[in-house]
Amino acid sequence: MHILITAGPTREYLDPVRFLSNGSTGAMGYACARAARRRGHQVTLISGPVALRPPAGVDFIPVASSEDMRRAVKRRFRHVDCVIMTAAVADYKPAHYASHKLTKTHSPLTLKLVPTVDILAELGRTRKKQILIGFALQDQAPRKNAQRKLATKNLDAIILNHPQAIGAATLRAEILSSDGSWQRFPTIRKTALAQRIVKLGEAIAFGRPAIK
Ligand code: CTP
Repeated sequence: MHILITAGPTREYLDPVRFLSNGSTGAMGYACARAARRRGHQVTLISGPVALRPPAGVDFIPVASSEDMRRAVKRRFRHVDCVIMTAAVADYKPAHYASHKLTKTHSPLTLKLVPTVDILAELGRTRKKQILIGFALQDQAPRKNAQRKLATKNLDAIILNHPQAIGAATLRAEILSSDGSWQRFPTIRKTALAQRIVKLGEAIAFGRPAIK
């Protein structure tokens, strides 16, 4: 299969040197890319800025903003069989970009933010045969929100995890598939979860139930 994986945070710039971002390290996405390569898949890794080295043998596309990531994903979407969207894409970006560095004043500064485009939801609306696997980082009503995101974004599966997963090697995760089944992992290493996710993508592609 050709698997497209997004990873890491995005940066939403206010001016040439300042940006809004989040603490995503990219570990989950890079682990998925490595697992997919090891299982013999063609892998495209589209990544926001992180301190990790891309795994050998993947087609690596570095991006910065959510809009860069969106363009890079859209350009390749037609040619891939499966998308694993681990990236922590910013939900908002500054309404205005200042092309010169903003100079400080001694008054409070109010930033106006506007929503970014939800890349995964857009893929869900336009997909043909592609398998779509998303993530949901939830601290409230986790299962209900994961179910809502799976349905509204038209996904095949969603991995529910928690804010403590950011920067950690292990996490608590649950996988919800579009047939309504849940797989629970009270603690699992990101590398092991990555293998499960890739195998799940394969199983969906071959129309079989998820490989345990
Ligand atoms: N995502 C995306 N584009 C965005 C925001 C999120 O493609 N602009 C993707 C993420 O990569 C992830 C999934 O959507 O796979 C869930 O993102 P999340 O931020 O947890 O959920 P939201 O749907 O944005 O909802 P909320 O922030 O309200 O919880």
